[in-house]
Formats: sequence, C-alpha cells, structure tokens
Amino acid sequence: MIEYPRTPPGTQPGYGHEAYRSTHWRAPRQPLISLPHTISELTGPLYGHSPIGETDNDLTRHFANPPQGERIIVAGRVLDEDGRGVPNALVEIWQANAAGRYVHSGDNHPAPLDPNFLGAGRALTDAGGNYRFTTIKPGAYPWRNHHNAWRPAHIHFSLFGSGLLSRLITQMYFPNDPLIPLDPIVNGIPDDAARQRLVSAFELSLTQPEWALGYRFDIVLRGRCATPFEAPRP
Ligand SMILES: [Fe+2]
Repeated sequence: MIEYPRTPPGTQPGYGHEAYRSTHWRAPRQPLISLPHTISELTGPLYGHSPIGETDNDLTRHFANPPQGERIIVAGRVLDEDGRGVPNALVEIWQANAAGRYVHSGDNHPAPLDPNFLGAGRALTDAGGNYRFTTIKPGAYPWRNHHNAWRPAHIHFSLFGSGLLSRLITQMYFPNDPLIPLDPIVNGIPDDAARQRLVSAFELSLTQPEWALGYRFDIVLRGRCATPFEAPRP
C-alpha cells in the first residue's frame, strides 16, 4: 500500500498544549488510533473548479481605493515531500488588517476596520508550484489566552494539494517579530526547526522598487520537512 510518510515526532503541534488555553477543551483524552492510508486519502476529493478571479490574489484591489497599511508581496512555492512543485494547488489566505482587526462578527478588538480591506484572497499554483499574493502587512492583535496576550502578525493559509491528506491549514509569520517566541500557538510545535518553517523570509528579489517589500514563504505539504499544521493533522 502506498502511504504518505508520517511526520517525525515534535514537528507538528500536539493536541494539547498547556500554555494554549483552548486546547484544554479540544484535545482528545483517549489514546489515538492510527488508521492506514487508503486510496481515498491518497487521491481526491479535490476542491471545486469555481474560477479564480483576476484580482483574487491581490487583496489591495478588492475595492475602489487601496487599503491602509504597508503593501507587501508574499510569494513562494508549494512543494511535495520530495521537493517537487505542486501545480494547481489552491492557496487561500485570510488575515487581519493593518490595525490588527478582522472583518468578523466575533472580533471586537477596538481597532478600526478598513472599508477598503476584506482580508481574504486565493490563488492557484502554476506548473512549478509557485503562488503569489499582494496584500498589506497585518497588525498584531490581542487575544484572551493569558494576561497581555498578543498574536504576532500573521497570515492564515489554507491549501488543497492533490488529495485529502495534502490539505494544510497553517499560519505564516514575519521575520524578527518579538511576539513570536511568546506565542503559545507557535510554541505548541516542540521542534525549533519546524517552528522556523512558519516564519517567512524577507527577500530583496521579490521586493519591488517604489512599491512593496517581498516575503518568501515556501510550503511543504507532507513528509519530513512538512510545514506545521496550526492544529494536529487529520
Ligand atoms: Fe489570526
């Protein structure tokens, strides 16, 4: 039977992490049962084929005027466990605005909404597995996990690769953010090298003069170097 390689211990977050409060209620209390991969995990189902709009990967062009904040380019490759680019992977992102506020009824952080920023975008990877977004740098925001808890600036990513087990939901961080080492969600991943895989890299070659800084974020869907899931993998 063909199987995806299992991820090494410590490179993905555990179900329960003492410092990450909401895991106390959702972590399983019974030992897990490991199921073998079957053909239904290794192949489809895939996402639907609703067309990707021309500006879906440019979050600064969804309204008549540009949003407030620091314009950035976020680009990279989606790779499989053997380092090959994954073509036609659906990459969806969502994020807070520059003030750290989401357009969501559950977000009552007293920071301004931006009428020109929704904070959601999507793209398909090309034949080499490359994706690219233009957006604005999200702000840090408070959450109530513990006293004075602030999430580091981050962009949420959801990916659909070639099959159900190549689904990935994760978060991308920015280099040199002092909030990263304090974040219980990041620290839920025991392995330091795996945590670093969630931090994008500033890249001058992606940076466009007079326009926007560029950040590279490569994503590995499965295997030894897999990008950590924001919660345990299915
Ligand atoms: Fe978030």
